[in-house]
Amino acid sequence: MLLIAPSILSADFSCLGREVEEVQAAGADWIHFDVMDGCFVPNISMGLPVLSSLRAVTDLFLDVHLMIDRPLRYARRFCEAGADLVNFHVEADSRENLLAAIGQVKALGKKTGITLKPGTEAAAAAPYLPLVDLVLVMTVEPGFGGQRFMEEQLPKIAALREQIEKQNPACRLEVDGGIDRSTAPLVKTAGADVLVAGSAVFKAADRREAIRALRG
Ligand code: DX5
Ligand code: ZN
Repeated sequence: MLLIAPSILSADFSCLGREVEEVQAAGADWIHFDVMDGCFVPNISMGLPVLSSLRAVTDLFLDVHLMIDRPLRYARRFCEAGADLVNFHVEADSRENLLAAIGQVKALGKKTGITLKPGTEAAAAAPYLPLVDLVLVMTVEPGFGGQRFMEEQLPKIAALREQIEKQNPACRLEVDGGIDRSTAPLVKTAGADVLVAGSAVFKAADRREAIRALRG
């Protein structure tokens, strides 16, 4: 089943609770929560207190995308703040530390994911693939919403779909960046089954129609 995960990076932060309620009513399956530290990526977004506030007002599945340096330091705290799934960038820490972070999240009963930047090859996912619930392929350089979809990532998505089918068929394949009604069919054909969309949902005049269009 295809899941749509609106990224609240494009929401109106002055009324975040209401924005989340609205996309839930419009048919969102998950909420994608982008954490940026100004170090791993050249932007700063939101963190732990915002996540706990949101957790208190929504029962939607919260998919936390950590764009932070050495995320092992914070894995436990994001779980405690209410994440349902924590995504770690493979570029952000050593293999040993990432495996430890994945272990911590699983021990707390939450789901885990690993994320690949556009310049990172599909093979980088291999050590984690049997362990995680999701692989996230970035289809823009992480850091900002509203960027153009990178079509050259499509073969990587297809390669990861193949590996997932072989090694861990329950694992989800998520895409993030520049997903709208024209790029959604491309990533779905390549094998993605969770679509993150920031501007395509939050900036749409009719969010219900926007989500329906992404589902196709
Ligand atoms: C970018 C973030 C994305 C971003 C996507 O670094 O990880 O989740 O919100 O925004 P759009 O859908 O507008 O490209
Ligand atoms: Zn994201």
